[in-house]
Amino acid sequence: MPDATQQEIWWAVARSEEVTARKPLAVDIGEQPVVLWRDAQGTARALEDRCPHRRAPLSLGCIRDNGWIQCGYHGWMYEGETGRLKEIPNMKDQQKFPPVYRAQAFGVYEQGGMVRVCLDAKATAPTLHDDPLTYVGTAHVSLGHQEYLDALYDDPGLVIAIRGVSFTPYLMSELRNQDGLLVMERSCQWKGLHWPAPFSSDFPLTVLTQTHPVSGETKLTLRDGEMNDLLHAVIAPVPAARGVTAIRWRAALGVRHPGLRGAALRGLNPFSVRGTVDGARLRVTRPSASLHGEDLRNAMCAPELTSEAGPLTPVETVAA
Ligand code: FES
Repeated sequence: MPDATQQEIWWAVARSEEVTARKPLAVDIGEQPVVLWRDAQGTARALEDRCPHRRAPLSLGCIRDNGWIQCGYHGWMYEGETGRLKEIPNMKDQQKFPPVYRAQAFGVYEQGGMVRVCLDAKATAPTLHDDPLTYVGTAHVSLGHQEYLDALYDDPGLVIAIRGVSFTPYLMSELRNQDGLLVMERSCQWKGLHWPAPFSSDFPLTVLTQTHPVSGETKLTLRDGEMNDLLHAVIAPVPAARGVTAIRWRAALGVRHPGLRGAALRGLNPFSVRGTVDGARLRVTRPSASLHGEDLRNAMCAPELTSEAGPLTPVETVAA
């Protein structure tokens, strides 16, 4: 697996509504702590979550009316675009601030209800045009980033839930590289359809997943037999400190499916990401779709391929 934090990757570290001008938000990209907030113009900003003075987390400070972030320890203030030190309480105006006291600024890109951060501040922001999706959530799971994605590939029910729908172990297509994304399709059923028979070969639904090979950001689409989009979601797992994966997600319903099944899908919380993973079930889940995932990712992220194709960007939908 390539070192994800060293590449020009845009990580969806927060949902737009989580980033405010009232209170700083602390997130991580791997072992890199990041503080997010909105400045006076409403623009999302991201700095390293360590004050250059004595390394106190800036996220423990506050946001001033002018949009600067103020450290909670000795009160130094930084602006968000460059991380430049702007003010030290009680220091006379004519005194110059040593340039070494500049917080590290990161690239920020907000679109589709997600705030994405790139550790390379000079990275080119992608051009996505997704509308924000209605149903949202944030979960923190005690599972490494790759283990989380492998669980999604091998048994989606371990990590997500779709109301009224059960995932089967049967794949319509194996994990494959399609237009720079890891793509696979899994057969699904409506819940409670097949009583009393314990088996069936009738799978009226499929779930299509399209995953960025490094960030793991995934577009998920639930479709019926006529290929109608019944529900779609963006799932954005980000490696956090201490082996935790932070997952932000947004989802929306698509075409209305007739009858009780469609009504069940349109009930409360049609989609959710599980906040905990059943360890007993995970332990006995055999690697299946994930088996070739690492080889595929390594091939897709080889330097000669990414330099030809340009920097990897967040997931854009490709035709299935
Ligand atoms: S540690 Fe932040 S101002 Fe001193």
